[in-house]
Amino acid sequence: MSRFLIGEQIFLRAASPADATPAYLSWINDPETTRGLVTGTYPSNLDSLRSYLESVSADGNSIMLAICLKSADQHIGNIKLDSFDKTAMTCELGIMIGDKDSWGKGIGSEVCRLVLNYAFEQLNQRKVSLTVYDNNPGAVRLYEKIGFQVEGRLRKHIYADGAYHDKLWMGIFKDELK
Ligand SMILES: CC(C)(COP(=O)(O)OP(=O)(O)OC[C@H]1O[C@@H](n2cnc3c(N)ncnc32)[C@H](O)[C@@H]1OP(=O)(O)O)[C@@H](O)C(=O)NCCC(=O)NCCS
Repeated sequence: MSRFLIGEQIFLRAASPADATPAYLSWINDPETTRGLVTGTYPSNLDSLRSYLESVSADGNSIMLAICLKSADQHIGNIKLDSFDKTAMTCELGIMIGDKDSWGKGIGSEVCRLVLNYAFEQLNQRKVSLTVYDNNPGAVRLYEKIGFQVEGRLRKHIYADGAYHDKLWMGIFKDELK
């Protein structure tokens, strides 16, 4: 597979509809993985997953990259930049590492830094934003560790796991990346 961005543990390549595999399907049907995501509220099947990947590939305002382990050439998740504002030079980031064996090894931080660097240096973005729910403290910790700041809190804004949760807006400028 053609490698687009290369880190220490992982490389990133363009995601494609061919990534609609049973492994990927198991990630988005796993409540532990999707607890902090919009994805997962409704059941997915291979057809709906392939359609989603086709729509992202066709969307000129999204860049979706597959996260792959260098050691095993294994697809373990995705990271996406979208909602590009060509006037304000901002965009939004989303990440999902679906392979739970890959959690807690610094991969999320490595991938986010690589993609933020790409956004700032190659795409000339001024600021990158994201949303995260407060039932996902691990993700908030990751984002704060690499330099994101909380810019807004929508109180009890989403419903998951039988309760309402706050939705946080976080943002990072180029000179804040750690
Ligand atoms: C959230 C996610 C990207 C974290 O990736 P990761 O590779 O496990 O994160 P890292 O190993 O780089 O950890 C970065 C920091 O966040 C902390 N962290 C990550 N996940 C955590 C968790 N579940 N609980 C507590 N802390 C956590 C780590 O402790 C680490 O901080 P430290 O270095 O000070 O110890 C990954 O678990 C994931 O994709 N989850 C499912 C989808 C999801 O929730 N995406 C984010 C939606 S906003």
